[in-house]
Amino acid sequence: MIPRGRFITLEGIDGAGKSTHAAWLAGVIAAAGRRVAATREPGGTPLGERLRELLLHEPMTHDTEALLMFAARREHVEQVIRPALARGDWVVCDRFTDATYAYQGGGHGVSRAFIAGLEAFVHPDCRPDLTLLFDVPLAESRARLARAEAGGRALDKFESERQDFFARVRAAYLERAAAEPQRVRVVDSSRPIEDVRDELARLLAALSP
Ligand code: TYD
Repeated sequence: MIPRGRFITLEGIDGAGKSTHAAWLAGVIAAAGRRVAATREPGGTPLGERLRELLLHEPMTHDTEALLMFAARREHVEQVIRPALARGDWVVCDRFTDATYAYQGGGHGVSRAFIAGLEAFVHPDCRPDLTLLFDVPLAESRARLARAEAGGRALDKFESERQDFFARVRAAYLERAAAEPQRVRVVDSSRPIEDVRDELARLLAALSP
């Protein structure tokens, strides 16, 4: 029997530097001789990427947002994540269900029970082995987004939210980390990138069989 691969997710408020680290992490895992699928949410499948376009740019109710996140997630889990893990591949996923608890739950006030119900239906037996929560002070994430915008990048619906929205999202993420400290590791990503990478390498080593 092939041992199941490991499922690693990356989380954090917009501007926390998560996406930079996702690519690096997948590279390190591949260099260690493992097959790795690097993917993201919302997205990760053709339908999921189309839903991502709607989710990031189209106005909708907060409940609809949560439902569409989980619709995209169902496709992603069934078509990509679960088959990869079953083959023994590792999966590095840029955001997963913790993001729905943080953004739709914490940020937009969608009921946690509603989200928990969707989670139980959509992926009852597919949970991350390790979640890296990239954490920066709010002011720093705002400054990073402002620099991106000044550089000519249009901000999406979530990135354009006000500071108090991000304060709630960050608080919800930290709450999840406190509730599940073994799975969710808070990584201070206001430090120099090399320091962050050293810590990621240590966390990864602890995960290896
Ligand atoms: P993000 O992961 O920041 O992508 P990029 O780094 O390419 O900008 O963008 C995804 C956005 O979707 C982000 O603002 C958070 C939001 N999101 C939710 O609100 N709920 C979710 O469940 C997920 C997966 C993402």
